[in-house]
Amino acid sequence: ASSLSHDQLLFLYNGIPYPTTFCSPEVFKALESFEARSDDVILAGYPKSGTNWLSQILNDLIDISQKKTPGREGSANAKELAEFPYLEVGDAEKYERMTKLPSPRFIVTHLRPENLPKSIFKNKVKILLLIRNPKDVATSSYHFSNSMASLPSYETWDDFFTNFTTKKVPWGCYLEYLSEWNKYIDKENIMTVTYEEVKENRALSVKNIAAFFGIPLTEEELQLVVERSSFQSMKKNSEKTHGPMGNIFFRKGGVSDWKNLFSEDQNKKMDKVFEELLGGTKIGKKLKY
Ligand code: A3P
Repeated sequence: ASSLSHDQLLFLYNGIPYPTTFCSPEVFKALESFEARSDDVILAGYPKSGTNWLSQILNDLIDISQKKTPGREGSANAKELAEFPYLEVGDAEKYERMTKLPSPRFIVTHLRPENLPKSIFKNKVKILLLIRNPKDVATSSYHFSNSMASLPSYETWDDFFTNFTTKKVPWGCYLEYLSEWNKYIDKENIMTVTYEEVKENRALSVKNIAAFFGIPLTEEELQLVVERSSFQSMKKNSEKTHGPMGNIFFRKGGVSDWKNLFSEDQNKKMDKVFEELLGGTKIGKKLKY
């Protein structure tokens, strides 16, 4: 993790902290006028909720559908944009370059809905919203932040937990993130999927996601997507897909690792905030929390 102080590594945009090493106020400004296309494929998920996993699945699905489109071989977009599908990460000219990309453009975002460009909602772009048990997200974030040079480092888990629950972490408070997205959960252009359900039955999730984006799949194609998105397979390919340090994106890939870090007191604290912000909400129920 970085030697810069926690505060030096974060800046505020609409009151939410973002990491200076990935984002900037100039890029956020340019993003406001981004024109989304109705056939963009958007994956929305907070960091460490499994965005690389679902990106793998969506990229393969786009590839499959492109191969069947006359005149197209594979997803040109997936290849050209492979270095930065993350909407808010990059330089301010990125959005201009994106206007030249063929459809469907694949876009990933960690942003909360109120910080996304308005055209996404105006044009009713389909969004796959990925959510994960906040305790596992916190656990995953803690380990990731300490192994990534450009993110803040935390001496102890208790330090991280305090920052996570007091909202002083990159991309802001996850429970607030969920509560903001809950306002959109009933919209027909949004499909919500939990990390836990994909873990339980990947084939079923892939089938449902393909159906939502209108991508027909043969049994063979389904099996291919399922195999390529296994934790083992993605970890094995991580250097190729994510560079020499790629393995840090594929740590344990399981459910309930939080039990190895949370104290009883921290567990109760998190439950309390969850109840306050998400008790009785649809998104809260989906998390089977
Ligand atoms: P853990 O740290 O709990 O292992 P993101 O991609 O949003 O950064 O999320 C990273 C988390 O997703 C990590 O969680 C990582 O191991 C997990 N993950 C990545 N690929 C996965 C896969 N194929 N199956 C299950 N979990 C996966």
